[in-house]
Amino acid sequence: MNGLKSQVQVPPLSLSTTFAQDAVGEHKGYEYARSGNPTRTALEVCLASLAGGAHGLAFASGLSAEDAVLRTLVRPGERVLLGNDAYGGTFRLISKVHAPAGCAWSAVDLTDPLGLDASWPGDAVVVWLETPTNPMLTCIDIEAVAAVAHRHGARCVVDNTFATPYLQRPLEHGADVVVHSTTKYLGGHSDVIGGFAALDDDAVAEPLRFIQNAAGAVPAPFDCYLVLRGLKTLAVRMERHCANARAIVDLLVGHPKVDRVLYPQLPDHPGHAAAAKQMRDFGGMVSFSCVGGEAAALEVVRHTELFTLAESLGAVESLIEHPGRMTHASAAGSPLQVDPALVRLSVGIESEADLVADLAQALDAI
Ligand SMILES: Cc1ncc(COP(=O)(O)O)c(C=O)c1O
Repeated sequence: MNGLKSQVQVPPLSLSTTFAQDAVGEHKGYEYARSGNPTRTALEVCLASLAGGAHGLAFASGLSAEDAVLRTLVRPGERVLLGNDAYGGTFRLISKVHAPAGCAWSAVDLTDPLGLDASWPGDAVVVWLETPTNPMLTCIDIEAVAAVAHRHGARCVVDNTFATPYLQRPLEHGADVVVHSTTKYLGGHSDVIGGFAALDDDAVAEPLRFIQNAAGAVPAPFDCYLVLRGLKTLAVRMERHCANARAIVDLLVGHPKVDRVLYPQLPDHPGHAAAAKQMRDFGGMVSFSCVGGEAAALEVVRHTELFTLAESLGAVESLIEHPGRMTHASAAGSPLQVDPALVRLSVGIESEADLVADLAQALDAI
């Protein structure tokens, strides 16, 4: 074993913005820190390995990773097919940033790959899917959708933020590119914003790395370090997130104040079969709609104490939010508009009994 590897358990934090060169045109692997630095390399190698991809590229946020992937794969006049249930920020990026620059887009039902195949628009070059989706937690059969995309000469991009590579590895199911907000489960502690893309194809990796450097939305070394530290506990955190989510689902199913529970493990959940096929477990996100509509949903999110009312997800502490007015407000009036009675939970790793008691008292209060 190489001496450094045996001694260093924590990757060094390399803060230098520039690196000494032996001669003009002869550097030692790094020139300028926007193009690459050792701490970012450590993160990119680690995440590529977790995702099962030959290439890994870290970005300053999940959305900047998405933006770089869109710039790489879609030219003006070409079309992105976006699942009709997706993170509001992805919808905003495509419809409000890339569309004005000439990219066409449509919202499509990805739960029906045969329908997608039959109605495929000739100008589509990318299918962009989330599974489980945000906020409905619908699960999409990655293998089936990727096969349809490939039949039409298009690429399939999967946002794997909700599942993480611990629960699901989209590249193994035929996806061409996987993207993540590392802000969520990968960082895991609500203290870093970051993004990541992993892929196998050298012909896509090269222009993507060009955009990473040329547009420059790269993470700071300390942010890379924080994500690397979070990753050390990803597996144990995910197991606890899943177990706690199951306890919450048990409370919600059949509760008189709850209209509908959305969790991929439930046999009647849209895409349960896809989730069972491609996921190790069903994740830490739970959504539900309230009897009493939006007014009741707003009351529930007001009354929890352990579940903090806040945007974001995937960290050790539990969060509750109202997607219609918070994370998905930008989708109002669009095909991605969210049911106003919906509440979304990011179930953390606190005591299961405390979490169940907190949500029970909030439901009792409405
Ligand atoms: C599924 C999903 N993808 C991407 C993002 C964007 O990530 P970031 O906030 O790190 O830019 C989010 C943020 O909430 C998300 O939920």
